[in-house]
Amino acid sequence: MSGSDVKTGGITLRNLQKRYGNAMAVDDVSLSVSPGEFISLLGPSGSGKTTTLMMIAGFELPNSGHVLLDDKDITRLPPHRRELGVIFQNYALFPHMTVAENVAYPLRMRRMAKVEIETRVRRILDQVHLGALDTRYPHQMSGGQQQRVAIARALVFDPPVLLLDEPLGALDKKLREHLRNEIKTLHKEVGKTMIYVTHDQDEALAMSDRVAVMHEGRIRQVSAPKDIYRRPVDLFVAGFVGEVNLIPVKLKSGIVHGPADKTLPAPPWSGADRDATLCLRPENLHLNKGLARSPDGIQGSIVGMTFVGDATIFEFRSESGSRLTSKVLNVSAETMPDVGDPCVASWAASDATILTE
Ligand SMILES: Nc1ncnc2c1ncn2[C@@H]1O[C@H](COP(=O)(O)OP(=O)(O)OP(=O)(O)O)[C@@H](O)[C@H]1O
Ligand SMILES: [Mg+2]
Repeated sequence: MSGSDVKTGGITLRNLQKRYGNAMAVDDVSLSVSPGEFISLLGPSGSGKTTTLMMIAGFELPNSGHVLLDDKDITRLPPHRRELGVIFQNYALFPHMTVAENVAYPLRMRRMAKVEIETRVRRILDQVHLGALDTRYPHQMSGGQQQRVAIARALVFDPPVLLLDEPLGALDKKLREHLRNEIKTLHKEVGKTMIYVTHDQDEALAMSDRVAVMHEGRIRQVSAPKDIYRRPVDLFVAGFVGEVNLIPVKLKSGIVHGPADKTLPAPPWSGADRDATLCLRPENLHLNKGLARSPDGIQGSIVGMTFVGDATIFEFRSESGSRLTSKVLNVSAETMPDVGDPCVASWAASDATILTE
């Protein structure tokens, strides 16, 4: 967030619902976005991200619910009267207009004076590092450059909120990473509220102040990236964001029992007895060579091993037959176990999450 006086640009969604025929595309979505916040809508294909964004932008009307910009209800206001910058997935640049003309378009629509338009276009093009390319046409530019023109065009009329729908979707991995840093830097510089749609977990975690995970038209969890990853609230979020080990457990008198009734390390549990799932990220599962029986670990052996550059992924099979994955950074190759080695798998209780859904 910028240190400047960010006051406007808060977006509130209240019980938004959108049906297409019998299908519920967005189902009771409520969300408060603070002025200047960077929030991502993250979810698989068809989860309702674009539909939600289009209701904020005004291109879709909800069947019920409300959209507020600061304290003003804008649910039924046409898009051009909302003053929200929108970047669509396919950029939608005008092919017959130069870069400068594309960027000037929203200002011309607003009937701004010519001199003012020129000043603003120049300033925003410099900001996205396209100052030298103003007379090019879209087809004469790379995907990444076109993307920046789209960002400049959405920002040029100084909207308090920017809506971005998979803006980096069409680009290769390296360019995506480069541009996501640029968007993040731009966010810090301009201090606008940004609502960013993506199905890419890494992108959402790396860019956002908060991430809203969507599934089947609903928001399942809204949290800071670290909490989405470390403290998922349900199996969908746990599985969608990153790799995860899922161990079926029974909660009995506050104690977590794994396969073969073994007690497993986990945070304290105070609810009623029931079946549940223990979630553990691969990097939190430690494999200790040797067969020393350990009260806090699971005995088994390594059945597979994959080198992935910076890390090695180990497949572990417990004596009771469960398979678990461990990820170890390749810092010191000498201490690495090998396929066939007997091992004890262990983890810190605080790294495990118990899900009862
Ligand atoms: N105009 C429409 N008419 C009928 N169904 C629609 C329409 N637009 C979207 N849908 C349906 O609504 C659901 C949500 O679609 P939406 O485009 O919001 O998903 P999304 O999360 O943006 O997915 P993607 O990652 O593939 O872009 C989907 O099942 C989709 O088929
Ligand atoms: Mg979409």
